[in-house]
Amino acid sequence: MTDTAIAWDTYARQRPERRQTNAHGETTWFNWTQYPDHGPGAELLDATAGGRVLDLGCGKGGNAAHLAAIGMRALGIDLSHAQLLAARNRWGLLAGLELRQAEARAFLQSTDETFDAVYSVYGALWFTDPDLLLPAIRERLRPGGRLVFSQRPPVAGCYGCQASYIPRGPDEDPLVVKRWDYELRMWEQLLAEQGFVDTRAALLPAPPGPRRVGTLIVSARG
Ligand SMILES: C[S@@+](CC[C@H](N)C(=O)[O-])C[C@H]1O[C@@H](n2cnc3c(N)ncnc32)[C@H](O)[C@@H]1O
Repeated sequence: MTDTAIAWDTYARQRPERRQTNAHGETTWFNWTQYPDHGPGAELLDATAGGRVLDLGCGKGGNAAHLAAIGMRALGIDLSHAQLLAARNRWGLLAGLELRQAEARAFLQSTDETFDAVYSVYGALWFTDPDLLLPAIRERLRPGGRLVFSQRPPVAGCYGCQASYIPRGPDEDPLVVKRWDYELRMWEQLLAEQGFVDTRAALLPAPPGPRRVGTLIVSARG
């Protein structure tokens, strides 16, 4: 197992499961942000029932499960066995949902499927070099299909490859995974350089309350 996969398995064991219902009493929903009941939903994908959609770094699978529940054919990819175990335990029997353990770029390069939409919520698109991952996504996104991803906005002055620390026990060093942070205009430029069109990066503010950090949401069409 790679150090990265070990790190994400460790992360998986620390993260709580998604609630059983959201503030509206719904049992499935889409959330692009780090806050409950906040921000836009699946409409950003511009995909319809029957559409084939791909979640890169699906984690415990809540967003992919929602897309399956509203009639899409959702495929969730994640390199963490522990994340997928939790996803299968909760959503495994849902019609229209498929979960597969794979590294995002390796999967895209190995499949001949085309997707109506590709998305990533604080997922593989944040944790993979975009110069390598974006071309692989473009290959497998149907012309006109949407790529949408969300992540924490960059810290001013800290751009490019950064270290994210995943804590372990009090006497152990944290594990490290790499992530890629860029300013909004830079994301639009990176996407345009790979041939994506209608690129748009926007900052969604945090909900009212003490927290200040919003959510970066980036979208483009193939
Ligand atoms: C912060 S979690 C987010 C999970 C989920 N999208 C959510 O919103 O809860 C990041 C996930 O991306 C997965 N991941 C990171 N890099 C990946 C890659 N290159 N290929 C596949 N999965 C990856 C990790 O295993 C982890 O489950």
